[in-house]
Amino acid sequence: MVKINENYLKLPGSYLFSTIAKKVNAYIEANPDKKVIRLGIGDVTQPLAPAIIEALHGAVDEMGSAESFHGYAPDLGYAFLRETIANEDYISRGCQIGADEIFVSDGAKSDCGNIQEIFDENCTIAVCDPVYPVYVDSNVMAGRTGVYDEVTGKWSNVIYMPCTAENQFVPELPERTPDLIYLCVPNNPTGTTLTRDQLKVWVDYANKNGAVILYDAAYEAYIAEEDVPHTIYEIEGAKTCAIEFRSFSKNAGFTGVRLGFTVIPKELVRGGTSLHALWARRHGTKFNGAPYIIQKAGMAVYSEEGKAQLKEQVAYYMRNANVIYNGLKEAGCEVYGGVNAPYIWLKVPGGMTSWEFFDLLLEEASVVGTPGSGFGPSGEGYFRLTAFGTYENTVEAIERLKKMPSLRK
Ligand code: MLT
Repeated sequence: MVKINENYLKLPGSYLFSTIAKKVNAYIEANPDKKVIRLGIGDVTQPLAPAIIEALHGAVDEMGSAESFHGYAPDLGYAFLRETIANEDYISRGCQIGADEIFVSDGAKSDCGNIQEIFDENCTIAVCDPVYPVYVDSNVMAGRTGVYDEVTGKWSNVIYMPCTAENQFVPELPERTPDLIYLCVPNNPTGTTLTRDQLKVWVDYANKNGAVILYDAAYEAYIAEEDVPHTIYEIEGAKTCAIEFRSFSKNAGFTGVRLGFTVIPKELVRGGTSLHALWARRHGTKFNGAPYIIQKAGMAVYSEEGKAQLKEQVAYYMRNANVIYNGLKEAGCEVYGGVNAPYIWLKVPGGMTSWEFFDLLLEEASVVGTPGSGFGPSGEGYFRLTAFGTYENTVEAIERLKKMPSLRK
């Protein structure tokens, strides 16, 4: 008799964004005449930049002739892309990361979800609360999180580090020492950041306690302020305690194209074993390499034209962030994020719960957002809006929101 992995049965409900999609579909069915504006999931809306389209076309043509055809990609990535990433994202910022410390993949979500496999099932994880659900859910699947308490919304073996307005969204060092510490900077969902000094506290703590920081830097392209690090390797000591995840989804619109990478420095050793070697073994066994066509598109992200075009794309989304941030302020809301990140985090007005506000926003304004409680217990009473919509829809959504009868009371 086959036995299933019962850890999957412990997962509460469906994945956050699947639940939202179901609710929105039901609303659309019941209200076919309403124009719904989606500012929920952080999916991009702008087309791929011309430099990327040109690279894709060129690579497709190469695949059409025997001389330039490419089969399986090297499992860790093509050297051309790994070298470019090392130079452009790290060496140019003074971080000594080598091309052979970069693992090209099909995106940061898979890597963030899979990385826990190389650690023991008894490792304790610490997460910011609220948090991107993938970090916790992938550890639930691995049987690492203990028992779920429906009342508190917490897992017994997870260390939660509340990030709320009360502590300026800066996680405090936990009382119990974790083995794995997930940090996302700029943060999804709150849109807030850590300064270099604040991140240094975590790097020192991890090194002192033999912990590993799993650092999600998917939103790095949106950093506007000087004292926010673009990579954790800007912090002295990070190479002996941190793994960094990066994505092409948010800086270059690859959500439907799929490309990302993970950095594991060779100095990162735990229990006498190189984590770089373990991940290389895992990647080689379970992954056949991101497609040649897509890695060529990734190269275009670093070309001079690509960089200029993507800078404009990021500015486009940040203009939306500004519209949302200022619009909500004008409406009298308490608002966070939106300065170094494409997410705006607002305090739900009138003492409603996050899901009550979700329903109200959909009902009164036909606007979709993401309830803060979907990201963890400390997200209750907050709500996330994304700046990844079109400019026109964003402006309209905020106009509708400002007119909501329940907000104007
Ligand atoms: C989000 O909305 O939180 C993100 O789009 C999710 C993701 O990047 O997977």
